[in-house]
Amino acid sequence: MENKIILNSTELTGIMNRDEMNKLSLVIEEKKWNDYRKKYDEAANLKLLSFPIQIDFELNSSCNLKCPMCPISAESPKGKGKSTWFDFELYKKIIDYSYNEGTRAIKLNYVNEPLIRKDIIKFIKYAQSVGILDIYLSTNGMLLNQKISDELIDSGLTRLQISIDAVSEETYQKVRPGGKLKTVIANLQNFLELKKKKNKIIPLTRVNFVKTSLNEIELDEFISYWSNKVDMIGVQEFVKPTKVKNSSIISKKTIKKKNFKCSFPFKQLVITNEKKILPCCTFWGEELPLSILKSPEDLKIAWNNEKMRNLRQTHLNGDYQSIEQCKNCVQGGLS
Ligand SMILES: C[S@@+](CC[C@H](N)C(=O)[O-])C[C@H]1O[C@@H](n2cnc3c(N)ncnc32)[C@H](O)[C@@H]1O
Ligand code: SF4
Ligand code: SF4
Repeated sequence: MENKIILNSTELTGIMNRDEMNKLSLVIEEKKWNDYRKKYDEAANLKLLSFPIQIDFELNSSCNLKCPMCPISAESPKGKGKSTWFDFELYKKIIDYSYNEGTRAIKLNYVNEPLIRKDIIKFIKYAQSVGILDIYLSTNGMLLNQKISDELIDSGLTRLQISIDAVSEETYQKVRPGGKLKTVIANLQNFLELKKKKNKIIPLTRVNFVKTSLNEIELDEFISYWSNKVDMIGVQEFVKPTKVKNSSIISKKTIKKKNFKCSFPFKQLVITNEKKILPCCTFWGEELPLSILKSPEDLKIAWNNEKMRNLRQTHLNGDYQSIEQCKNCVQGGLS
């Protein structure tokens, strides 16, 4: 794997081997793939699309770990059980509408653990049947057992991201309490073997590492360990959480990036389990709600509403620091 982390001035995550994404063109019709990537790149370059190219869904509001850098751990257990699970019938309507309006990618998580929902496979299969090209999710990997691995590989999921953040069990316990590094590695290895056995290109796999003062010493070893095992490695700069219990993990890196212009509000909308429509998928998006979704058409209204227009214009002006939430998000999020 090319030992280079690419981080441009409109994004918050550096990806090693980003070009591996193009392997998806082997399983998706060429023209459709090219059109999707063209639109995605336009949005990444802050061009306004008529509708988000990507929609993220928070299908459940719960997590099995208590990572100190993540806001869900500050209120864990979130106290919201199955009653707040995202309704499949509403999801289907949103997918149908969004596909017709131009959406081609979906992510099936926000600040939650998506594999808690054992019925996630039907959400993936439905999106694929409608024509969504890129369907992905991020998981902590603790629930990635043989059964769900088998189903995920056959579901049409295009990308699976596994957040690991450590190479030693000792560091893992500090950054991902509630989990077990040994289990996550065994689960991922099993997933990779199964995929190989089935001779499948997708789901492409990516392991993630969020840099904090607790684990950054293990980053180089993490990269060497995973380089030839997975398709990509994501190295995320620490984003200051909206809620924290333990402030000692705040990254030392709080240098402001003056020319940062965020591309999230040009690419995507996020729908939470409470049906809040957000302009971006970092925690700070929750502090910038656009509206509440009552019907799929509300997505188009939110995409063009005044809050969203102002947010985009402020970033285009290079003035993100004038928005408190963006300032908090970016400070500590870039160096
Ligand atoms: C909030 S998690 C939700 C999905 C899943 N539970 C997981 O851990 O991958 C999504 C991503 O956000 C990352 N993350 C958590 N806290 C972060 C922080 N303070 N700064 C940057 N990324 C963070 C996680 O490591 C993960 O890669
Ligand atoms: S980072 Fe993921 S696994 Fe960790 S607490 Fe947040 S949602 Fe849960
Ligand atoms: S809070 Fe602002 S800077 Fe952060 S991802 Fe959202 S729009 Fe971008």
